Amino acid sequence: MAGHSNYVPQSAGAKWLESRLPVISLVRGSFVDFPTPKNLNYWWTFGGILFFVLIAQLITGIVLAMHYTPNTGLAFDSVEHIMRDVNFGWMLRYLHANGASMFFIAVYIHIFRGLYYGSYKAPREISWILGVIIFLIMMGTAFMGYVLPWGQMSFWGATVITNLFSAIPLVGEEIRTWLWGGFAVDNPTLNRFFSLHYLLPFMIFGVVILHVWAFHTTGNNNPSGVQPKTKQDTIPFHPYYTVKDLFAIIVFMILFAWFAFYLPNYMGHPDNYIEANPLVTPAHIVPEWYFLPFYAILRAVPDKLGGVVAMFGAIAILFVLPWLDTSKVRSGAYRPLFKQFFWIFVLDCIILGYLGAKPAEPPYVLIAQICTVYYFAHFLVILPLLGFLEKPRPLPASISEAVLKGGSGKPAAAVAASETN
Ligand code: HEM
Repeated sequence: MAGHSNYVPQSAGAKWLESRLPVISLVRGSFVDFPTPKNLNYWWTFGGILFFVLIAQLITGIVLAMHYTPNTGLAFDSVEHIMRDVNFGWMLRYLHANGASMFFIAVYIHIFRGLYYGSYKAPREISWILGVIIFLIMMGTAFMGYVLPWGQMSFWGATVITNLFSAIPLVGEEIRTWLWGGFAVDNPTLNRFFSLHYLLPFMIFGVVILHVWAFHTTGNNNPSGVQPKTKQDTIPFHPYYTVKDLFAIIVFMILFAWFAFYLPNYMGHPDNYIEANPLVTPAHIVPEWYFLPFYAILRAVPDKLGGVVAMFGAIAILFVLPWLDTSKVRSGAYRPLFKQFFWIFVLDCIILGYLGAKPAEPPYVLIAQICTVYYFAHFLVILPLLGFLEKPRPLPASISEAVLKGGSGKPAAAVAASETN
């Protein structure tokens, strides 16, 4: 990872290692001496929080897997065995199940932070795209994990989502059979979901390393969106941001613990405490809260294939976002019109989430249709046009000026033009 380290090996052993595998100077250059903009606010702590939750999910998941049985006849009971018989099994399971929700809370904040401060813009497009890939793998992992306890919602959720693939023209039915490993969601499906649910978090880990590498190469964005110009604009990552991130992680852990120990089933669905029964369909099949906005988009389109395309399109559009936003100014803090549309977009996503939990009937479907059109219009119409129509506020000449003088200075266009891309 990029970044120069002042590290000079002192002992004979350290010199020996450095000339063979310079891992100490790599770590020091990336996480100790790494020059970081001095004005990062608390929204920038969510990357570190995400890393913490990822590790917590890996550890609790690996231990849960020691007691879980991926078989349709035994899975539900093995989860009850974990809850009742395994020492601290209830805690492991509640930490893992609520950890998934905490992961999504943190990732949504992290994504919206990027959207507000223009972190997806040049030169950080690759950090952003790798982030979207992480988000997709996270969704796959969470979906398959939810199937494992083999409750009613596990089974019917898996049935609904795998059935979507049958909407693909010509090969849809074959793909669905291939995913199932049979002719319905059954034992082979549960087995492969378990295998993939174990594998994918390690892939997330790998992509996270690339993600961190990418933004260490370009340097971090910051709330002003202005690139650091002098040494005065940055501070070393350690101790300043290690301590700040640690503090944020501890605060976040309090929220996490509050859910895991006091409201462990608050974010789950009671039907998942009923063992899967292919003969009884639940009255309402709803996904976990973090999928609800996408579920609303899926059901807003009357045609099955159209719904699937819209749902995947809602995520796919994020890949091209860096090229849809035409504004020269990076940070939303200096974009008066963008700021307002940003909050309307946040509201649009929240309403979609609310509608995803409602039955697919009037008036919810119509509102979901309006919100879906707005979702796409935000990226395809509003962001491209705003770059031309909006008059940004004057940008500070440097991060130091933004911090010290509250950020007036050169006109935005002049600073934007001098920014390195
Ligand atoms: C496991 C999931 C993830 C982890 C562990 C992670 C980690 C990090 C860390 C440590 C940072 C630097 C600190 C910060 O800006 O908060 C960062 C920055 C960034 N992340 Fe993520 N991230 C994850 C997911 C995502 C996702 C899903 C997206 C977008 C869809 C994303 C987009 C970005 C961007 C654009 C930056 C550079 C921003 C900047 O420096 O301002 N990340 N990430």
